[in-house]
Amino acid sequence: MIEQPCARVSISVLGTDFTELGRTLERIRLSEADSIHLDIMDGRFVPNISFGSSIAADIVRASALPCRAHLMIEHPEDAFDTFVGAGVTELLFHVEATRFPFRALQLLKRSGIGRGVAVNPATQVESVVPLLDSVDTVLLMSVEPGFGGQSFLPGTLAKVRMLRSAADRAGTPLRIAVDGGVDASNAAALRDAGADELVAGTAFFRAADSAAFVRLLKGA
Ligand code: DX5
Ligand code: ZN
Repeated sequence: MIEQPCARVSISVLGTDFTELGRTLERIRLSEADSIHLDIMDGRFVPNISFGSSIAADIVRASALPCRAHLMIEHPEDAFDTFVGAGVTELLFHVEATRFPFRALQLLKRSGIGRGVAVNPATQVESVVPLLDSVDTVLLMSVEPGFGGQSFLPGTLAKVRMLRSAADRAGTPLRIAVDGGVDASNAAALRDAGADELVAGTAFFRAADSAAFVRLLKGA
């Protein structure tokens, strides 16, 4: 088994104490994570509400790292403009949230920022294969979206492998990101399966040494 040399690491701020947001962003910067992951929830697509574009814009302004929005919302197309305006560098929407993913990706193309789709644990990887030429990133959910702090679903590893082979067959330089329950116990297996970005929230905030945790996830 040849382990993938290095993965990028994105930190979800969902699990932070928002009254401490400034300090959290500094902690993320010092940890040498690659980006910030913004979990946007509408209480409809998922049974939880997080924060919206104005807090996202504050985080973008306050952080030097690229910020990517993971939209867990219905009618994601309606929110593209406000999140592009907030300054995020990439938008990810759920394939389960729209009947017209090609149209949504076309809309995003005009904005010039990164584009991607997120995939729920029970959704087959095959459903995004037709989109591979039109996305920069596929975010595979390894928990049901909606809450931080859930346990990693091990079936995700097979989905990462399947998606990596489909992307290789299509000759697409796809970024495969994995989100939910990512920690020290599954990071190496995910990299080995072909994931090149790992998203972490709870495990990052629990780690006594954030920089060591990020290095461990990166496999550096
Ligand atoms: C879940 C979110 C995830 C999650 C990551 O709906 O999309 O980004 O908060 O956090 P942990 O690491 O707590 O699973
Ligand atoms: Zn997320």
